[in-house]
Amino acid sequence: MDERQRYDRATAALEPPFAILDLAAMRANAADLVRRAGGKPIRVASKSVRSRAVLERVLAMEGFRGIMAFTLPEALWLAGHGFTDILVAYPTADRHALAALAGDAQAARHITVTIDSAAHLDFIETAVASARPRAEIRVCIDLDAGYVAFGGKFRAGALRSPIRESEQAADLAAIVAKRPGFRLTGLLAYEAQIAGVGDAPPGKALYARAIRLMQAQSARELVMRRGRIVNAVRQVTDLEFVNGGGTGSIERTVREKAITEVAAGSGLFHPRLFDFYRRFTGHPAALFALPVVRRPGPDTVTVLGGGYVASGSAGPSRLPQPYLPAGLRYAPDEGAGEVQTPLLGQAAQDLRIGDRVWFRHAKAGELCERFDTLHLVDGDTLVESAPTYRGEGQTFL
Ligand SMILES: Cc1ncc(COP(=O)(O)O)c(C=O)c1O
Repeated sequence: MDERQRYDRATAALEPPFAILDLAAMRANAADLVRRAGGKPIRVASKSVRSRAVLERVLAMEGFRGIMAFTLPEALWLAGHGFTDILVAYPTADRHALAALAGDAQAARHITVTIDSAAHLDFIETAVASARPRAEIRVCIDLDAGYVAFGGKFRAGALRSPIRESEQAADLAAIVAKRPGFRLTGLLAYEAQIAGVGDAPPGKALYARAIRLMQAQSARELVMRRGRIVNAVRQVTDLEFVNGGGTGSIERTVREKAITEVAAGSGLFHPRLFDFYRRFTGHPAALFALPVVRRPGPDTVTVLGGGYVASGSAGPSRLPQPYLPAGLRYAPDEGAGEVQTPLLGQAAQDLRIGDRVWFRHAKAGELCERFDTLHLVDGDTLVESAPTYRGEGQTFL
């Protein structure tokens, strides 16, 4: 039985549109992430999963420890459901959530918030001022792990923290250490230019060489700089963790002595954007099915919906991939549509009204903002229907 038959059979009782997660594929992906992490724990990036039931399954596997959450309300919600060791990896300006954190000693024990400036500390302090009793706020400092060359004229990596050098990090660490009610617990330094940029973009040999060169230089520079920063901060205070990396960089990131753990999430679902890395090959695990609703011509079908475009710099790479049957492509003038999506190619000839076309999202967790359920498939059987965050009425972003 091929994959398409297997998925069609497992979900025969469902009406598309719906989303599935192939558990065997996800288990294989998880095992590969753990192998690449070489013994260092993996903190699960929840933005790339967005289903509580799936997060529980992942954390039950050896090699995964803790959650990298994307908003504080999400972290509070997860803590309320018994999750522990939650790092909110992006600064928050949510006063209500901060007040709730400070007022909930149990949650405050398990949640760490991220800052990159004294202004963040001041903001938090004002937000929690009226909480009585007021729990200690665990804080992580985010560092700029981007790559800069040619005297600052070239920059690669996400524009995140202004903290780049060891003196800046040590100064901020000292400010946190002196502030009553705060405790510095960790450092975060995400090298997006390595972890999130595929080094084997198809049909772009020159660009691929440039990317590999940049990534190699950046990795060399980071070993030294992250090492210096971590040493400097450890002179000020003990650290529970130093987090770096992502799905695309794990084996490189864990080589650094200063790094105690890596973050990863996308590699579990293995969405389309992660096809273009030399260092690993994942199994597409999260898919969505759309029904064929018309046949405008012999080599064309139209499916319902489809415009589930991924975030980031807009372009064709952010479109979902028509996956099964193989060989379908978008109509250039329409792309992935709001309500319907025409698909062209010989493979359309055999499709009838009501058949499914299976797609992959360009990114991982964003798929779950479109569906309230992830149907969990093992082999050719549907074993569970797990709510996504959206399915639980939670839309954090
Ligand atoms: C701070 C941080 N760490 C790690 C990651 C990597 O996540 P993933 O493995 O899902 O690509 C991201 C992704 O954006 C991130 O923002």
